[in-house]
Amino acid sequence: MAPVLELADVSVRRGTATLLDDVSWTVREGERWVVIGPNGAGKTTMLQIASTQIHPSSGVATVLEEVLGAVDVFELRHRIGYTSAAVAERIPRGERVLDAVLTASYGMTGRWREEYEEFDEAQAMLLLRLMGVDGLAGRTFGTLSEGERKRVLIARALMTDPELLLLDEPAAGLDLGGREDLVSNLGKLARDPEAPVLVLVSHHVEEIPPGFTHVLMLRDGKVTAKGPIEETLTAQNLTITFQMPLILEVRDGRYAARRAPR
Ligand SMILES: Nc1ncnc2c1ncn2[C@@H]1O[C@H](COP(=O)(O)OP(=O)(O)OP(=O)(O)O)[C@@H](O)[C@H]1O
Ligand SMILES: [Mg+2]
Repeated sequence: MAPVLELADVSVRRGTATLLDDVSWTVREGERWVVIGPNGAGKTTMLQIASTQIHPSSGVATVLEEVLGAVDVFELRHRIGYTSAAVAERIPRGERVLDAVLTASYGMTGRWREEYEEFDEAQAMLLLRLMGVDGLAGRTFGTLSEGERKRVLIARALMTDPELLLLDEPAAGLDLGGREDLVSNLGKLARDPEAPVLVLVSHHVEEIPPGFTHVLMLRDGKVTAKGPIEETLTAQNLTITFQMPLILEVRDGRYAARRAPR
């Protein structure tokens, strides 16, 4: 089967800066990937490529069997769900939560005279329920807490029934309970065979939901490790990626990391 996402020697350069440096990465049907790495490693840049927001400066990026640069990306974007801080900022504060999810069907933010089918409304409610926030459907987006917004954004990203779901730091800013709720929601999604291919960007191994199958580690725009999670998510690879001696603990499908004692 053709890969869902394939980067072949992809570099992204801006001025004299190299944001991604010869990154090669293949994501296949059914896989659930975590992308982990320190601040400034290039994680968001990589998701911007995967979500067709930017093109490589060199190398080839193939998303859902279409080569970026050779295809109308607006068609492709309907097949990709994407959440990030930038997406959250584009949602008007006064928009009703249900509409913030519904408008995703049209690849836009802000409800403005479009006619939505009843089916779409029912689907949006279903997704809000899946993320445990259906009670907030009538509220305005601006009144939600950080964690509630994050979950609404994931429901929104699922609205087009995407083949690829890209989540850029969905747990950032959440308290412990909020993070654990999100990890559990994402764990359910990861184990659902009907769910899209998942790529989750995170800084913290504690945020990796059970059921994720692969990990890619990034530092300074370069891949430091990639592969199946059991063999790739190791203290040694984390130590290289974060350039700090780290200890990794695994229990019940969850991970925890801390600095190794001197
Ligand atoms: N237009 C630009 N010109 C120069 N450097 C840039 C530009 N855009 C991004 N960068 C730099 O590229 C690097 C990678 O950025 P990116 O946002 O992909 O990192 P990240 O891994 O997502 O980091 P974080 O964990 O902080 O979100 C950063 O050092 C950033 O400052
Ligand atoms: Mg980022």
